[in-house]
Amino acid sequence: MPSLHDNAPSTTRIRFARVEADRYDTHITRNLSSMRGQFVDEQAYRRLLAAGDALLYEVFEFKRPEVPGELLSGISVVHPGRVGDEYYMTKGHFHQVLETAEVYYCLSGRGMMVMETPEGEWSVKALEPGGILYVPPRWAHRSVNVGASEDLVTLFVYPAHAGHDYGTIERKGFRKLVVDRGNGPEVVDNPRWVS
Ligand code: PA5
Ligand code: NI
Repeated sequence: MPSLHDNAPSTTRIRFARVEADRYDTHITRNLSSMRGQFVDEQAYRRLLAAGDALLYEVFEFKRPEVPGELLSGISVVHPGRVGDEYYMTKGHFHQVLETAEVYYCLSGRGMMVMETPEGEWSVKALEPGGILYVPPRWAHRSVNVGASEDLVTLFVYPAHAGHDYGTIERKGFRKLVVDRGNGPEVVDNPRWVS
C-alpha cells in the first residue's frame, strides 16, 4: 500500500491461507479487557477475564491522510469465541461524520453485521466469503463472528475523514444482539439497550 504522502495508485495482495496483508501501517488489537460493559452477561465476562485477557479481534490498517477525498482501508479479523451466549464481536461505532458510508468485503469465515441508525432502524446482514456489504451513511456497525472455530476476516473501505464515534454505542449498546442459545446464531433484543 502507498505511504501517507504517495498519491499513486497501488495494490496489495491478500494471502488466503492465513489471510494476512503483505504490508500494513498499524495493527490494532482488542482484548476482552477493552470491551468492559459491551457484553450483556457480566458474570460470564468477569469469569472469562479472570481466566485470561483473550484477544477478540485485530485490525490491520492502511493509513492515508484523514481528509475528504481519501479512503481508509484495512483488514479486520474477529476471532471465534463467546462471552456467555454472545459471540465475539467488535466494539462497533457510528462514524463521527454521520453522513459517511463504508464497504465491507468478506474474505473468510462466517459472520453477521449488526447495524442501526439514530432514527431507530436496525438491520442484521450475513457476512459470508465473497459477500460485499454496503453500510450506508448514518448506520452504526459492529461485526460478529458466528463461526465455531474460524476467524471472520473482512476488508473494509470508508471515507478517510469519517472518524469514529465509539461513545454512543458504549453508552447505549446496539438494539440487537447475536447469540447462540443452543440452536446456532440468533438475533435477539438487547435487554440492556438504552433509548
Ligand atoms: O471502520 C470500520 O468500521 C472497521 O475498520 C472497524 O473499525 C473494525 O472492524 C473494528 O471495529 P471497531 O472500530 O468498532 O472496533
Ligand atoms: Ni466504520
